[in-house]
Amino acid sequence: MTVTATKTAAVFISGGGSNLQALIDAAEQDVLGFQLRAVFSNRADAGGLQRAQEAGIETCVVPSRGVSDRVAYDRTLAVELDRFAPDLIILAGFMRILSAGFVSRYAGRILNIHPSLLPLYPGIDTHARALAAGDSRHGCTVHFVTEELDGGPRIMQGAVDVLEGDTARTLAARVLEVEHRIYPRAASLVAEGRVSCRNGRCYLDGEVLGEPLHDTA
Ligand code: GRF
Repeated sequence: MTVTATKTAAVFISGGGSNLQALIDAAEQDVLGFQLRAVFSNRADAGGLQRAQEAGIETCVVPSRGVSDRVAYDRTLAVELDRFAPDLIILAGFMRILSAGFVSRYAGRILNIHPSLLPLYPGIDTHARALAAGDSRHGCTVHFVTEELDGGPRIMQGAVDVLEGDTARTLAARVLEVEHRIYPRAASLVAEGRVSCRNGRCYLDGEVLGEPLHDTA
């Protein structure tokens, strides 16, 4: 884990956690601008929990199954989260929509990665939708979370060419590699205070960021 970073983050997952793994790997290589303080999941069977445990990161499961009251669920989540007092909340395949109250409580501190070149294809089935539209480029976006689903200010994007014969599966796999590259970088810029979100706009080094940063692989 990086010794220089003073900021902390909690990562929220629901599944396999390959993006979480990319963050863990970056921390171990000392290139992450924050410490991974805790991993939260709404599912006890999320594969990413094991990745966290193996990396020595505390885990917290707040089961969502059968809980229909979103506001009550998010209140419980906030109580658990505040025990760790993270500077950042990093959604990495967290398959729940957060309530307006939760989002405003942590305004400007919640990040998400979405597998499309937003504003194209918010929501699900992004790879299939890009293929159906005949797009020649597809990719992923790291953005601040606001009340609008996948609609918050964009920080960084990475793209791949859509290849002849691509299926949603092959395309998703190539996009995922880009996700693993850009999420640690984008989140580090926020933790280091270089990128911020104010009044629905994204700033880089104090200047409005009109277009998202690009993957510089
Ligand atoms: C990623 O495709 C991410 O963009 C989306 O959910 C998926 C999570 O994958 N939000 P993983 O659990 O990080 O492997």
